[in-house]
Amino acid sequence: MSRSVPLVPTVTACALALVLTACGGTGGVHGTAGSAGVADPYFPKAGNGGYDVTHYTLTLAYTPSTSDTPDTSDTSDTPDTPHTPTPLTGTTTITARATQNLSAYDLDLKGMRVNSLTVDGKKASWTRTDQELTVRPPSTVPQGKTFKTTVHYSGTPETITDPDGSEEGWLPTADGALALGEPTGAMAWFPADDHPSDKATYDITITVPKGLQAVSNGELRTEKTAGDGRTTYSWRMTHPMASYLATVAIGHYDITRTTTKNGLPVYVAVDPQEAAASRKVLAKIPEIMEWAEYNFGPYPFSSTGAIVDRRGDAGYALETQTRPFFPGAPDTATLVHELAHQWYGDSVTPETWRDMWLNEGFATYAEWLWAEDHDGDTAQQTFDALYRGTYFDDKRDNEEIWAFPPARPTSAAHISDSPVYERGAMVLHKIRQTVGDARFYDIVQGWAAAHRYGNANTADFTAYVQKMAPGKDFSGIWKDWLYGEGKPARP
Ligand code: TRP
Ligand code: ZN
Repeated sequence: MSRSVPLVPTVTACALALVLTACGGTGGVHGTAGSAGVADPYFPKAGNGGYDVTHYTLTLAYTPSTSDTPDTSDTSDTPDTPHTPTPLTGTTTITARATQNLSAYDLDLKGMRVNSLTVDGKKASWTRTDQELTVRPPSTVPQGKTFKTTVHYSGTPETITDPDGSEEGWLPTADGALALGEPTGAMAWFPADDHPSDKATYDITITVPKGLQAVSNGELRTEKTAGDGRTTYSWRMTHPMASYLATVAIGHYDITRTTTKNGLPVYVAVDPQEAAASRKVLAKIPEIMEWAEYNFGPYPFSSTGAIVDRRGDAGYALETQTRPFFPGAPDTATLVHELAHQWYGDSVTPETWRDMWLNEGFATYAEWLWAEDHDGDTAQQTFDALYRGTYFDDKRDNEEIWAFPPARPTSAAHISDSPVYERGAMVLHKIRQTVGDARFYDIVQGWAAAHRYGNANTADFTAYVQKMAPGKDFSGIWKDWLYGEGKPARP
């Protein structure tokens, strides 16, 4: 499922040969190769052209390894032969629809060893270059056809260091592992069209050794323990999800299953060492969900919850769909932030990584609104402190907000800096000042409803706001606050 993103034109030998001879296989249909990226301004190789994924089926088996040295030998894929046990063995089946006649297409997969690969059940060949896994189906896949690619793979998944220095992908923990995917970490643990513009539904099944648990997105369908004590957990995400929001958490957890007042299942998994410190704040999930539904509109998914696990060096939380991740006992503001992302980020997803402020500006503004509604500072007070330069303790942090415009991060290393978060939230506050509370809440609810389960960009947002308040002039806000360099002259 995707909203189309302009494709990078690719010229292949095959395309050039098209006029002269049949190309791309035996089927008689002429095809060209799908592009190796979807022209994301910050991550040009992320995602792939030529097809649109509708569903992923992941079947994984995890075995803790004694050595956690990643297997980075990308090119040493070997045909199916018995190997020594590896931490992760996976089979991923990708159901996709061809958006062009496809002689070849790419998946994103970083590290791991590909053992075999089929397209609609027939053996296919592949090559690997860095994160691009190029598949050559035995015959051209005709445009419009829904086809299945099955990849069998194994190895030690990689921890990926982001341009901003944070770690994502596969993160080993003391008693298991975590998979966190923002922005490009999904490709560390499953082959994917790893870009937010191609959302799909997921079945994630994972087998773990005796005594361990596995938690993922959506609803737990079955949990089966085999004779050898290994347990298989099957999770299902029935609503579209961007690959960066897929997760699996493996380890020992205290599991709490409850429901909200209106019957939404709440599934919370907490590292026992964090349980005492987390209990009080996690008990607020139902209350926060009610508050969020009142302000942002109907919750878009079929369950909620949280995952709390210790991960010293992934010191960030992530809005993994239905089940946000926290690297330790969260505070209320962070819990509100990640739950607000379920509407803004997860249900309405940025079209490219340039539109990150649509995630972080909203989630940060949700924190301000929560404080305002619960005897804390008003959003106006927070806005004023930021404008004045007294919000953060550190002077440099107060200045950093003005480093670049929210809608134009200077590079991939800066997509999670404060201009995207705090200044993004300031843009929303400026809109609220312009239209008043009643219309403002119509806008935030309407925006979530208009793009539910889809993708949207900054231009869609500004057009939507203008449509919802036809008599108002937002041009100064867009020019100075959203796209403008430096600190706007007036608050
Ligand atoms: N989206 C996360 C949050 O705000 C933060 C985050 C984690 C992030 N990893 C990232 C942001 C990578 C940008 C890129 O809760
Ligand atoms: Zn966030």
